[in-house]
Amino acid sequence: MVELFSRSLLALDIGSSSIKLVELAGGRQKKVRAMAHIALPPGVVENGVIKDPAAAQEQLKDFFKANRILPFGRRVCVTLSGNAVIIKRVALAPDKDKELAEQAYYAAEQHFQHSMNDLEFDFYNTGSLNERGEINVVLVGAKREAIDGLMEIVHGNRMKIGVVETDVFAIANMFEYNYGTSETIMALINVGASCTQVTLVWRGEYLYTREVAVGGNEFTRRLAEAMSIDVVAAEVAKIGASNFTQDPTEVVARIISETNDQLVSEIQTTVAYYLQGSDNTAPGVPFTNAFLAGGACRTLGFEAALAAALQVPVAIINPFQNLQVNHRKFPPEELVLEGQKYGVAVGLGLRNMGDRL
Ligand SMILES: Nc1ncnc2c1ncn2[C@@H]1O[C@H](COP(=O)(O)OP(=O)(O)OP(=O)(O)O)[C@@H](O)[C@H]1O
Ligand SMILES: [Mg+2]
Repeated sequence: MVELFSRSLLALDIGSSSIKLVELAGGRQKKVRAMAHIALPPGVVENGVIKDPAAAQEQLKDFFKANRILPFGRRVCVTLSGNAVIIKRVALAPDKDKELAEQAYYAAEQHFQHSMNDLEFDFYNTGSLNERGEINVVLVGAKREAIDGLMEIVHGNRMKIGVVETDVFAIANMFEYNYGTSETIMALINVGASCTQVTLVWRGEYLYTREVAVGGNEFTRRLAEAMSIDVVAAEVAKIGASNFTQDPTEVVARIISETNDQLVSEIQTTVAYYLQGSDNTAPGVPFTNAFLAGGACRTLGFEAALAAALQVPVAIINPFQNLQVNHRKFPPEELVLEGQKYGVAVGLGLRNMGDRL
């Protein structure tokens, strides 16, 4: 199809605590044209599924207005996460009688343990072979119900869907653009509000992902409970302590540290499960680093606690590292404190129109 006006995609990450928007422009060297976020009231999005499309649509409308973005007719790139997607890497033996697509579909039927009628199915041929000469393929199933929810709010704002991605691939894409690929296994850990995604990558290929049901909300909830305060005040205490703008009281420090320990232990179990389990499709390859994204990855003491448990260097990803940013519009100190929550949105913004899920 001929595009009359070539306009870039608007990347929208509709998370459970906020909507993040990124618009990138340029050819190989991308630059940031727009970035913004708006908080969502609790309950509008839960665990990757839009529970209240009407409210989400309204929020989005206000958001565009506040940021002077004209959404009408624009193509957007949106993302699915949590329970809305199933991702599985498998190896398929080459079969001259069957198309790879057909083999991938049969493999998905076996592995997903879910009715294929409820899923939008796609697969990705990594192009690499395993030690038995089988083709490494990543299977992706996206729940129709979740896609419909996204369509509703996108169409409600008179926009068009350009690309549907998953949080996991968006983060991996953003990471590769900024940090390149590695001969060792890396963990990319996206600490959001409702959950934390742990994704393992190797040579720029997806290996494994699991979602842990602990994110920034859990820290806030526990603080509110322990201090008998509301979640708004608890959030202020958490952010103040994490940004070093307010000395944490003994209770704040203790609750954050205990929640860190729980999250770290879940992450450690996830990584160990993959490395030591029969699912490991990169046996013998060392695990050397962890990289953090998501708004809650800056929680007081989390990075250090994770490094101590995993025994590998841990670093916070800067999603804008290789992007051109106008620092008068987006001050560097703001990017340092707020930048991590744009990890998914930047990964989405880097996608091209023709790309598949
Ligand atoms: N400086 C900070 N220190 C600690 N936590 C923070 C900081 N800034 C934001 N957070 C927390 O990060 C979370 C929001 O992160 P993010 O925007 O990545 O989540 P989300 O995408 O909305 O959620 P999800 O991906 O789980 O649906 C909130 O829980 C918030 O309290
Ligand atoms: Mg998120």
